[in-house]
Amino acid sequence: MPSNSNTTANRYGSIAAEIYDIDKPVGALPDTAFHLQGLSGVAGPILEPACGSGRTLIPLLEAGHEVVGFDPSQEMLDRCAARCAERGFTPALSRQRFEDFSYSESFAAIVVPVGSFTLIDDFATALAVLRRFRDHLEVGGLLVLDIQPLSLLAHRGEDRRKWTAANGDLLTIEGKRTATDWLTQRAESIQRYERWRDNVLVESQLEPMAQRYWGLEEFRLALEATGFGAVSVSGNYARGRRPRASDWVLTFEARRG
Ligand SMILES: C[S@@+](CC[C@H](N)C(=O)[O-])C[C@H]1O[C@@H](n2cnc3c(N)ncnc32)[C@H](O)[C@@H]1O
Repeated sequence: MPSNSNTTANRYGSIAAEIYDIDKPVGALPDTAFHLQGLSGVAGPILEPACGSGRTLIPLLEAGHEVVGFDPSQEMLDRCAARCAERGFTPALSRQRFEDFSYSESFAAIVVPVGSFTLIDDFATALAVLRRFRDHLEVGGLLVLDIQPLSLLAHRGEDRRKWTAANGDLLTIEGKRTATDWLTQRAESIQRYERWRDNVLVESQLEPMAQRYWGLEEFRLALEATGFGAVSVSGNYARGRRPRASDWVLTFEARRG
């Protein structure tokens, strides 16, 4: 996989992947039901870029869709493959990135849940990724994409949480914002992940994160500039409800022109 100028950011290594699955069980968050409903009329193959450990991909498979996924994190992909196999599924999964993924087939829909698209921390790169999405959709194909709005750039609070792993290990995260650039709408943070066993620190991983947040109309214009039409937006997974300033997620649904 080619490297970029930001190779260590947004890595989702082994402790992050383990915590992800404890913290966000398959089907438990409200986005899954929303996306299952929005994609229910799709007859052809669905691509999930940044599919992670399958939290969304698995319910789509269980609903009878053909789903293809990619993710740059081998740890997340390994978990995805194992969780699919437990349920009797063997979807095509590959190690690719938003920036340069490629398939010879076209998709009927592309879905990017939660904040994954904000992990593209550069405006021009994000527009190029939207064009890449368009080029991988059938004409009239559906793009469904969640965006964390610009308001989150103002949230500077620390993130401190803990979980107990299946083997009894204590897993902790301590996240701190390290930079906020209001001009480029970009934030950097450092997440420190730790594994404690019998009160002894046995593993520690640092995960630098970089995210770019979007304005509502800015993202609508970005979709229109990259070949999408029939754009609709919902706030906080309430289908058809216009976004509010207090919403923490905006879902855009658009068609390839
Ligand atoms: C918040 S998780 C979402 C996983 C999954 N889509 C879900 O709904 O649970 C974000 C995912 O984005 C992936 N990611 C990070 N950088 C990426 C990139 N440049 N291209 C594609 N995926 C990336 C991470 O490895 C991680 O699995």
